[in-house]
Amino acid sequence: MSTTLAVLGGTPVGGDRVQVFERAWAELVGARHAVSFNSNTSGLFAAIGAAGVGPGDEVLVPPYTMSASATVAIGYHAVPVFADIEPDIFCVDPRSLRERITPRTKAIVVVDLFGHPADLDPIMALAREHGLVVIEDAAQAPGAVYRGRRIGSISDMTVFSLNYHKHIHTGEGGIVTTGDERYAERLQLIRNHGEAVVADRGITDLVNAFGFNLRLTEIPAAIGIAQLSKLSHLLERRVENAEYLSKHVGALPGIAAPSVRTGCTHVYYVQPFLFDAAVVGVSRERFVGAVCAELPTAEDRDWPMMSAGYVTPLYLQPMYQQQIAVGASGCPFRCPHYTGTVDYRKGRCPVTEEIEERRMIATEFMRPPATLDDMRDVVRAFEKVYEQRRELASSAAGERRG
Ligand SMILES: Cc1ncc(COP(=O)(O)O)c(C=O)c1O
Repeated sequence: MSTTLAVLGGTPVGGDRVQVFERAWAELVGARHAVSFNSNTSGLFAAIGAAGVGPGDEVLVPPYTMSASATVAIGYHAVPVFADIEPDIFCVDPRSLRERITPRTKAIVVVDLFGHPADLDPIMALAREHGLVVIEDAAQAPGAVYRGRRIGSISDMTVFSLNYHKHIHTGEGGIVTTGDERYAERLQLIRNHGEAVVADRGITDLVNAFGFNLRLTEIPAAIGIAQLSKLSHLLERRVENAEYLSKHVGALPGIAAPSVRTGCTHVYYVQPFLFDAAVVGVSRERFVGAVCAELPTAEDRDWPMMSAGYVTPLYLQPMYQQQIAVGASGCPFRCPHYTGTVDYRKGRCPVTEEIEERRMIATEFMRPPATLDDMRDVVRAFEKVYEQRRELASSAAGERRG
């Protein structure tokens, strides 16, 4: 194993395991370049930098995602503007994106939430029309396909996570794919103290050419190479489990299985079901609690296998509500470079709020090494609670009265 890390003053391309891993990942998704990072968050951050985002800019992003999808814009002192999601696949809605573009918009962060691709064709067309860069947060979607094309080969930069609860992992890690050599170079500069090498490399465009230490190292890269060889097998197991649950749990009136659009694949980082309390006759929270009580909890986990709701819409977090992020003076939301007025009020993205507050049940039962036998237990638990839903509802009413 080479000791050539991507050190300051050394080569910015990384050690030889890093390079093998990057080539293998680029090949897997059909991209020209892959640049690895020590996390998906670092990769997203570098992609925002590579897109040339800076103070005064706005970055469009869905609010239904892990917080880093939006925070990385704030890292470059830009303002996240939230666009609503589509109610069937929970990814950002191209129509909402169009409505929220302003002259300040510089980039769009699209999230392939839960493992289903966002509707990339209209989003890419919109971005081209307005000269915007599309960064795809595919942390949850390695191996997914959109209209016959592999995720990682479509948007300007696509970012994958390799943290320990993803489909495959290196402990922590991330990797960005792109078809554009200039983005690949800038990603490398941001990953590894770019300011120190621009002179030697004859780089004259200094916008966001400075960097940090965001490097993936040789040992996780070596693990990543081994993990890659397991990806398709692990995905098959996961999809088989998820489809079994979709068929049986989704057959219960009032519980809808996740949609998969024509030409797309879903790789089920999370398996989302939509719950209709009016049809089932008991509250979502009560139902979820009862199903969880029927099933053993995995011992190595620090979060539940099933939850009522997924994440609070991001704009309702304290950082957005109070508009305090970089320093104490309100940067980037209230800053001399920013000429817009942000709106983070409740009601901003009604589809997201409705789904999160009333409809979403996020499940993770399908993760390997779970088997179809385990899925049968899960289905039995759902069916048992479903049969007892009237008793469950009346005991809940009794508790409220008591
Ligand atoms: C959609 C999304 N974006 C970003 C991240 C952050 O990834 P990482 O932990 O690799 O930085 C995650 C992690 O769960 C995620 O699910």
